[in-house]
Amino acid sequence: MKIVVFFSGTGTNLNSIIQGQSVYKYDVVSCFTNNPEASGIKFCQEANIACHIIDHQLYKEREAFDFEINEYLNAMNFDYIILAGYMRILSKKFVAEWEGQIINIHPSLLPKYPGLDTHKRVLESGDKIHGTTIHYVTEELDAGPIIRQESFKIEPSDSEESLISKVKEIENNIYPETISKLIT
Ligand code: GRF
Repeated sequence: MKIVVFFSGTGTNLNSIIQGQSVYKYDVVSCFTNNPEASGIKFCQEANIACHIIDHQLYKEREAFDFEINEYLNAMNFDYIILAGYMRILSKKFVAEWEGQIINIHPSLLPKYPGLDTHKRVLESGDKIHGTTIHYVTEELDAGPIIRQESFKIEPSDSEESLISKVKEIENNIYPETISKLIT
């Protein structure tokens, strides 16, 4: 199985997916970021994997930006687009073109807390549990069919920062394995 990984920032999930290649049967054929400053780019360099960069700030329209991404993708042979902390909303046209092949990881127990600031919202709501969701990407934001969820109990001492790191630790563990099972 061949995958392309999209990311925008620190890339801990990107790194776990790259490392997962030695354990699971998939190959990261290329990576993509919309952020030329993303610190996750170093993980591609360390692993000698091409990282394609298109700065979204150079595009006025989301469609024009996504058209460029499509040009990049169409020149490659792959099975899945894996979103790993990719912080741009994909246009409807883009999702329609690749629907069924785009996977995302979202830091909440969907359908609770789609969108941003999930950890803060969980704390504000006084929830007892929190977690992460791996799902197919569809037109509606963070609402596609769920592939896997993992949860944990929130402790009274938890803060937004501690929840971010607890969620990421789980994500880094489950994302590579879940990806490897997409094609059985
Ligand atoms: C993760 O928590 C993921 O669920 C969300 O963005 C975060 C990315 O973290 N979509 P990282 O860049 O992989 O460290």
